[in-house]
Amino acid sequence: MASPGTSRKSVEATSPTVAQHLLAWYDDNHRELPWRVPPRELATGVRPDPYRVWLSEIMLQQTTVEAVKPYFSAFLEKWPNVEALAAAENEEVMKAWAGLGYYSRARNLKACANAVAQAGGVFPDTESGLRALPGIGPYTAAAIAAIAFSRPAAVMDGNVERVMSRLFMIDTPLPDAKPEIRSLLETLVPEDRPGDFAQSMMDLGATICTPRRPRCMLCPLRDECQVLGQADQEFYPVRAPKAEKPSRQGAAFVAVRPDGAILLRKRPEKGLLGGMTEVPTTGWTARADGETSADAAPFPADWRKAGSISHVFTHFALELHVYRAEIACTAAPQDHFWSPAEALHGEALPTVMKKAIEAAIPGATRKPHSTNPKRPK
Ligand code: ADE
Repeated sequence: MASPGTSRKSVEATSPTVAQHLLAWYDDNHRELPWRVPPRELATGVRPDPYRVWLSEIMLQQTTVEAVKPYFSAFLEKWPNVEALAAAENEEVMKAWAGLGYYSRARNLKACANAVAQAGGVFPDTESGLRALPGIGPYTAAAIAAIAFSRPAAVMDGNVERVMSRLFMIDTPLPDAKPEIRSLLETLVPEDRPGDFAQSMMDLGATICTPRRPRCMLCPLRDECQVLGQADQEFYPVRAPKAEKPSRQGAAFVAVRPDGAILLRKRPEKGLLGGMTEVPTTGWTARADGETSADAAPFPADWRKAGSISHVFTHFALELHVYRAEIACTAAPQDHFWSPAEALHGEALPTVMKKAIEAAIPGATRKPHSTNPKRPK
């Protein structure tokens, strides 16, 4: 932490060189990512496709780059442009999104594609225009405006907050420090290459200015960094203590037919995991004496405990007790359906439900290996 009397470089002295040093570093060290147009191509006049930038930024909200890559490729293959996505069935989009989490993003993604397609298939090119679209908040609007349309927008995600709080040795704890970080960031954004600047900040945070053991000796901003040599880098960003997540519990029931089909139902459109598919479960309750036994099953059967799984949501941690029963009858109860074993991997199952099914039937949610075509005799 800055002790009284510690001399800090002024923002004015720091600002001009930050963008220069970062962009020079980015030219040689940027990550090659499927949604990105690298600097060497931008320099030849190639422009980023706003659809790809938008799709990647929605997917990257709350999700890591590595987790996003296969989803991004699969979406592009199925729906190469915004009109194609707008023409898709909601259900198909939810299925393709299953496993990425935060499912309201998928519903908003589809609503946004519909709105853009209706407006002629062209994305707005300003932050305010973008913010008017479903699922596009301040961060995403700034990222798309900077990356796709070269607007000098201040793009501030968790990586950028960490870089900035170290660069300027910001002692105010997050999240209160956000306005201070934003106004400092605005002084740094260059008119030229604002999209590369935003992505260079992200890459620096992901590869050099990491939460633990930052690689300061390789950092292009070591001359400007106010923490380096003054304090423990890992101490920054300062954070307000986190409230512990409340816990909830419930039971999940995996009913299996003799042919391996599994009984599923669709969750209500509104609310947590809205519109996604699930095995029948009880409500998820914070009560310690909530329904977690086989007595809470949706119908009588020989329910056997198959284990329990845990899953952490944004606002609570869930423990689900999982039961399995073999069911001979083929009629599905009202609002339920049987998913054949080989179709299960394609259902819109959120990760928590995949975990529950896997606890009852290991391997059930994995994509079956395609069998080798038979050789002609
Ligand atoms: N995280 C969010 N947006 C990103 C981008 N464009 N590149 C890398 N990481 C990101």
